[in-house]
Amino acid sequence: MKRILASLTALTLFCALTACSWVADQSAPGPSPSDQEEPLSENGTSSTPDEQEPAAAAEPRVLVAYFSATANTEHIARHIQTVLNADLYEIVPEEPYTDDDLHYSDDNCRANREQNDPDARPAITGTLEHPENYDAVFLGYPIWWGQAPKVMYTFLESYTFEDATIVPFCTSGSSGIRSSADLLYPLAPDASWLPGQRFDGSASQEDIAAWVEELELPE
Ligand SMILES: Cc1cc2nc3c(=O)[nH]c(=O)nc-3n(C[C@H](O)[C@H](O)[C@H](O)COP(=O)(O)O)c2cc1C
Repeated sequence: MKRILASLTALTLFCALTACSWVADQSAPGPSPSDQEEPLSENGTSSTPDEQEPAAAAEPRVLVAYFSATANTEHIARHIQTVLNADLYEIVPEEPYTDDDLHYSDDNCRANREQNDPDARPAITGTLEHPENYDAVFLGYPIWWGQAPKVMYTFLESYTFEDATIVPFCTSGSSGIRSSADLLYPLAPDASWLPGQRFDGSASQEDIAAWVEELELPE
């Protein structure tokens, strides 16, 4: 009888010990299943530290802002837009230029009067949103009597491009860009201006790409 009692006590002790160890396994401090998952990155994707890509540098933002009365300059502006994947902004005069306004053999046509008036600032319709966002601004216009049309002065006086690099470009019958660009620099004195370029209205996208390739644009 004693032997039976001793066996029963041993069995009870063994069961109690095994049960305790199972309970202990369940409650032992340690990583919970959720602790063991990979941390989520900020955008909600999962990656181990070894797989993390270095943050890509932001692409410079480029704007092509242009005025064009007869579409030659617009043609160039669109090529630049394509080559640089830029934003395009047309500078639209509140009062559009008619053929008579552009009849430059008439001294009294609107374009000639404006070009001869140092204070002329034709109004622009529409607004350029967030000009401060752009790292580079291509500024396009036709040459009118050796100068940029006065609506370009209105544009430059309306916005601040102090941290941007400005690249003037123009189309013309034959005149170069130099004298017109010299008159624009003081209107955005804090910007970095690159030398401008004159194009024929029929310049190809390859011509434009070759020019852009040589420019020292912000990176
Ligand atoms: C009022 C006026 C003045 C112009 N003056 C000049 C000039 O001084 N030199 C020149 O080479 N072309 C001159 N042109 C020609 C334009 O610069 C040329 O046709 C230009 O490509 C037009 O561009 P757009 O089609 O974008 O308006 C003048 C045109 C106009 C309407």
